[in-house]
Amino acid sequence: MYDVYTIRKDFPLLNKPVNGRPFVYLDTSASAQKPQQVLDKMMFVYQTIYANPHRGSYTISEQMTTEYELARQTVQKFINAKHAREIIFTRNATEAINLTAASWGGQNLKKGDEVLISQAEHHANLVPWQHICAVTGAKLVVFPVTNNGEFREDEFLKYLSDKTKIVAVTAMSNVLGTMFPLKKITTAAHNAGAKVLVDACQFAVHHHIDVQDIDCDFLAFSAHKTYGPSGVGALYGKAEILQNMPPYQFGGDMVDNVTYEKTTFADIPARFEAGTPASVQAIGMAEGLKYMMNLGLNNIEAHEQELVAYTTQKLQEVPDLKIVGTAKEKGGVFCFAIRDIHPQDLAFVLNKENIAIRTGHHCAQPIVNRMGYTSLARASLGLYTTREDVDALFNALIKAEKFFREN
Ligand code: ALA
Repeated sequence: MYDVYTIRKDFPLLNKPVNGRPFVYLDTSASAQKPQQVLDKMMFVYQTIYANPHRGSYTISEQMTTEYELARQTVQKFINAKHAREIIFTRNATEAINLTAASWGGQNLKKGDEVLISQAEHHANLVPWQHICAVTGAKLVVFPVTNNGEFREDEFLKYLSDKTKIVAVTAMSNVLGTMFPLKKITTAAHNAGAKVLVDACQFAVHHHIDVQDIDCDFLAFSAHKTYGPSGVGALYGKAEILQNMPPYQFGGDMVDNVTYEKTTFADIPARFEAGTPASVQAIGMAEGLKYMMNLGLNNIEAHEQELVAYTTQKLQEVPDLKIVGTAKEKGGVFCFAIRDIHPQDLAFVLNKENIAIRTGHHCAQPIVNRMGYTSLARASLGLYTTREDVDALFNALIKAEKFFREN
């Protein structure tokens, strides 16, 4: 039984009134709030076993090594990877995609090759590919979404060819909320001889991920959106691919043997984790994922989908409000505009009501522009969001719309 009101008690920040009134947090797509379990685990580590993992032979360093590697196994379990060594801890999803673009892309792309992305990509899954294409002479190709932000298989297939070497696609757009059919994309890409990277940042907030079922070659996500700390994320890569990729960064712990003349590199995952890792954050990330798995990913998803329907219905009742992104397969992300009211002005008014939303281009400027805007307001849902949060947004938007109409 998923009781969102009980769940909310785990999140200290959500239970702190601001100016004596409840705080309505609708910006989980940017960063999720953290349950006490994550905060306690990280504090426990700092207070009792903190040391550098993989480097000391004294007790607490070995305990840290154990906890850090257990965290890797938790990420493995969360996405159902075959092997723990297929999980690389990175700074965030952005670094995970940069690693893939630089290392795999640098090794495998050349003039005449194509990298295929969707129109709805976050800058993190666009700019690294743009850059590696510029470096290697490959071409970045973009397949379109429809005017309501829907994926169209026929459009995707038009752009996929034997020149495509990798398809890099979001599992769920941080602007449109559109969920992309990953298995369909992966099957078609593999048939064309291309690899697939999935940006699962938004999808992982609410959904069960099974990389073996999807059969993607790479997948990236960040802990700060999955109810864990900032400063850590994960790259999944199939072992047989990662093993053949050159290192991305160089330094301590990613080596096998070093002389002044020559260095040989460690096996995966260490090869891709140069320097002291964000160990406590990785352990905190695992705790956030365990928290989600304990609630049940199916329950979290059902809660999200119920609220997506409710939020859609409420937003449609606000005069002149346009939801940008109304795909049938939509997650808990709502970008919207009301006439020509500047989103920043809307956010300002909502903030006066203790309601936190995000505005701007959401680090996805091309898709915001493609939908006909330069800036949008965005309300996004988390596993702790309630109907009351949505009602508060609705009431504040009704008031704001009236205020701007009359003034
Ligand atoms: N990628 C995050 C967002 O969409 C920061 O807000």
